[in-house]
Amino acid sequence: MEKKYWDVIIIGAGAAGLMCAIEAGKRGRRTLLLDHAKIIGEKIRISGGGRCNFTNLKTLPQNFTSQNPHFCKSALARYTPQDFIKLVETYSIKFYEKTMGQLFCEDSAQQIINMLLDECKNFNVKIELENKIGAITKTKTGFRLGTRIGQINCTSLVIATGGKSIPKIGATGFGYTIAKDFNLNIIKPRPGLVPLTFDESTRDKNVHLAGVSLNVEVSSKTGCFKEALLFTHRGISGPAILQISSFWQEGEEITINLCPDINILDALTEAKTKKTKQTILRFLATILPNSLAQYHVQGLGFHENLNLVELSNKQLGVLSNAINSWTLKPQGNEGFRKAEVTLGGVDTKELSSKTFEAKKAKGLYFIGEVVDVTGHLGGHNFQWAWASGHAAGQFV
Ligand code: FDA
Repeated sequence: MEKKYWDVIIIGAGAAGLMCAIEAGKRGRRTLLLDHAKIIGEKIRISGGGRCNFTNLKTLPQNFTSQNPHFCKSALARYTPQDFIKLVETYSIKFYEKTMGQLFCEDSAQQIINMLLDECKNFNVKIELENKIGAITKTKTGFRLGTRIGQINCTSLVIATGGKSIPKIGATGFGYTIAKDFNLNIIKPRPGLVPLTFDESTRDKNVHLAGVSLNVEVSSKTGCFKEALLFTHRGISGPAILQISSFWQEGEEITINLCPDINILDALTEAKTKKTKQTILRFLATILPNSLAQYHVQGLGFHENLNLVELSNKQLGVLSNAINSWTLKPQGNEGFRKAEVTLGGVDTKELSSKTFEAKKAKGLYFIGEVVDVTGHLGGHNFQWAWASGHAAGQFV
């Protein structure tokens, strides 16, 4: 690396860092993008099952969790899903809407990485991988960084090192350390969009449900999502659970409506009134996967061959409650090892929502997942990375 002075140095060549580098490069800023990883954009590559759910047509500020729900509005308004789609179309990348506004590449997530790398090249962004950053010091005109190849300087320093999720592919808490070094407050990072786990006794009771999947409505004290649930060997996962995990707090219960489109009490009462000659298990198996119907019938102590008409109204109530309003207390979650995102991060109070510059440290910027703004599942997190990277890129 020949230059020792740069206008802009960005640490973290993920979604947000790449977008910020492109925008800074467009403005003619001499920009260097540093990452400690061997391969660029690993999270983009593995995202969306290898097809990258790169944005969501319906992204709104309401799709984000933060101590300050207003902070994300400005950047999201200045760089919309349509703006990113235009870029994708320029590169003739084929994509499709899977469900609920979620856009995926038809072929491979690598196309998004290649597109961003081509844009970096177009705007003379220099990229250096496998670069471990040492000490960062404030100078009169900017910052000095210790790196593998000696000291380098810049006017604007952007931290785009993401959250702590999936350390195996290079996630670190580096961004939080830098924020603390500059006296910025951190909202405690915790795993989000993560499978929930059961305690041992619940696990033993539920183990035969592993692999069962169905559409549910799951709610916690502060959130509610209607999507698919998947039973795993250690607990529950699937989009509905990943979503609620970002709202669930340890020690709380969650409520799962196992068939949100049917009022089971009404259906059971109607079947009983019509004197339908059906066992409760048979009846429930028309609505739920058989093993789940069996789980509840046995769990409530009913005999499998008990006929519907033999149930008292009180028993109908107990049964319908178990199906429409199943209450569970997860023991925990699968942690950063499996979390798709990190909740919390650099307190938005410390940053300008227009420029992403730290109010206490001129020239220092934080963008992407390292900031306390976390999206729901479905392409919103990448939209945040693009939008925050784009916003900062206009000012660095
Ligand atoms: P990101 O984590 O992408 O990049 C940070 C970069 O900083 C990395 O390249 C890392 O190597 C580097 N870095 C870290 N520490 C460093 C250090 N000390 N020194 C130098 N470099 C350092 N979202 C979505 O919208 N749609 C989707 O389909 C998916 N799918 C998905 C699947 C899986 C398995 C995961 C884990 C996550 C998703 N996400 C997602 C979430 C999405 O990937 C995530 O929100 C963005 O990648 C965040 O972008 P950032 O650029 O902020 O961080």
